[in-house]
Amino acid sequence: MSATGVKIAAVGRYAPERIVTNADFEKTLETSDEWIVTRTGMKRRHYAAPEQATSDLAIAAARDALSRTNLTAQDIDCFIVATATPDYPFPATACIVASALGAIDKPAFDIEIACSGFIYGLTVGSSLVRAGVYRRVMLIGAETLSKITNQKDRGTAILFGDGAGAVILEASETDSFLSSELGSDGMKPELLQVAIGGSRRAADAAALDAGEQFIRMEGREVFKFAVTKMIDATDVALRKANLEKGDLDFLIPHQANRRIIDAAAKYLEMPPEKVLVNIEEYGNTSAASIPLALSEALDAGRIKDGDTIVFVGFGGGLSWGAVCWKWVA
Ligand code: UT7
Repeated sequence: MSATGVKIAAVGRYAPERIVTNADFEKTLETSDEWIVTRTGMKRRHYAAPEQATSDLAIAAARDALSRTNLTAQDIDCFIVATATPDYPFPATACIVASALGAIDKPAFDIEIACSGFIYGLTVGSSLVRAGVYRRVMLIGAETLSKITNQKDRGTAILFGDGAGAVILEASETDSFLSSELGSDGMKPELLQVAIGGSRRAADAAALDAGEQFIRMEGREVFKFAVTKMIDATDVALRKANLEKGDLDFLIPHQANRRIIDAAAKYLEMPPEKVLVNIEEYGNTSAASIPLALSEALDAGRIKDGDTIVFVGFGGGLSWGAVCWKWVA
């Protein structure tokens, strides 16, 4: 084992074809385009087809990332899928993804920490590379939240979408990983959860009738927590990297609500052009939202060699995290 630096060698993404607009929700729920846009910033989300599982989205994003390199799946030493919507309670979705990509006998595991999944995964994956355990790690944030969303609940139905983003972490002489700040508070899991189907409560007929297989959220509570933790985690990550707010070129936040992002950006004194937001197109895609935004920004040529980025997320747990990253082209 030898210590090294890490960089992101390639990024890919996938979003399912079907698009659900605010106008579509106006037909089925007591809501309006105006309410959704002003309260969340969302206009569209992509929904997986009935036959598409999370691994299908993850595989497509991973293939996109690989297609931007000369690598094959066999060149990847470890696969991590961050998801709150795995194909099955077990086995891990990452095992299915790695094999479908053509990787043979490679380590593969999931990280389940809801919307903070990509930030935790970036910390774990980067650490594996920096410690010299693996030369290349494929980290994929992938979700099919539409499958666990109650389409009759206007408080959550309009929020969530499906998608996947994949990054290839690779050993490098220069080190992109500047710092990480992770946290959790499990005192009130009910603030944001799927309450049944685990070892606490079975998915029995009564629970299913009551719609408890779907995401339940105390929106207002989560909103307050989200703003505070995005700011705090970013502050601490910057401090750990010996940087100040003014040193930041880009903030790439979890896309849960435009107002949460704007409130955090205001405190962090980040002008709009430095805050990457694609919530309008995808809604909240949980662990996929940050790599989706990163992938789009790279394709648009917005991120340049040497840029300093903070990736910051929060979600169920409750959980949160920020990673400070120096972009190496
Ligand atoms: O990924 C991580 C987790 N998710 C989040 O971070 C989400 C955090 N929370 C939020 O983004 C916001 O709390 C929501 C978008 C979920 C809700 O926005 P809000 O401004 O906090 O609204 P609210 O829950 O305080 O509700 C205000 C009103 C209520 O009506 P009354 O009680 O004032 O009559 C709701 O019933 O808005 C109503 N409402 C809606 N009205 C139209 C809630 N959802 C809708 C809707 N359309 N879709």
